[in-house]
Amino acid sequence: MNFYNNFTNKHLKIAHRGYRSIRPENTLSAFEASIGKFDFIELDIQVTKDLELVVFHDYKLERTTNINKNKNFPFNGSYNIYDYTLEELRLLDIQNWFIKDDPFGKIKKGKVTKEELKSLTKQAILTVDDILLFAQTNNIALNIELKDCDCIEDELFVSKLLSCIDKHNIKIPLLISSFNDNYLKIIKEKSHNIATAINIENKHPEDLINYVNSLNVQSYHCAVNIATPSVVKRLIDAGFVVNVFTVNDEKKASELFDMGIKSIFTDYCLECTS
Ligand code: G3P
Ligand code: CA
Repeated sequence: MNFYNNFTNKHLKIAHRGYRSIRPENTLSAFEASIGKFDFIELDIQVTKDLELVVFHDYKLERTTNINKNKNFPFNGSYNIYDYTLEELRLLDIQNWFIKDDPFGKIKKGKVTKEELKSLTKQAILTVDDILLFAQTNNIALNIELKDCDCIEDELFVSKLLSCIDKHNIKIPLLISSFNDNYLKIIKEKSHNIATAINIENKHPEDLINYVNSLNVQSYHCAVNIATPSVVKRLIDAGFVVNVFTVNDEKKASELFDMGIKSIFTDYCLECTS
């Protein structure tokens, strides 16, 4: 099944880590705020010390948790997510930092109401099971990004995610992406028919089309600064869907859609349609 056949909109807007300009990223509140405003949700997956899969972007916990202020977590030299069990991580609050830091200036601009701020009460880190069940209940498609995790064998990491998906009999459209192409190869080796996508940050790979063909992915996700018209055209001519991250500007979004890209990963609820 082609993941993109599930959508009627010509151009798609992806909630990058949820609707993270008005809610703390990768939280239930950011995912709830995305419903009805984006075509699908992107989120990041990592592994804990006890090999549970959790929804979290940074490899370290300081930026988006209250770990610095929690007496249960004395500083141990670094606050790596993989040094803690799921039970320990669940003691951390992943919302309050957003109110203090206002990373997109939306609170200052009055775009988050007082009532909404009040509703941002203590929230714990989500597991993959939590987000899969949330998406199934709300009938929203997901792009699950597997972060590059050194603390677990590649095969085990991928198998754990696929088992969660199979265990819950998830029927909503799913797309698994990663910067680590070995994860994508393992999914295909397992003959799992889930759609996959490669993420590229700084430089397009040598022998681009052969490389993307070899991965058997449905889409190519690249950073906005390397999404040039010539590369986008080559990929589209070869039959690939191109999605671009992270686009928070309407003019840039329209320019990219006119170039032929399918989707933007965005932190904002942009109005542009072409
Ligand atoms: O998957 C696209 C984008 O999310 C990759 O960058 O750092 O936001 O995970 P990052
Ligand atoms: Ca991501």
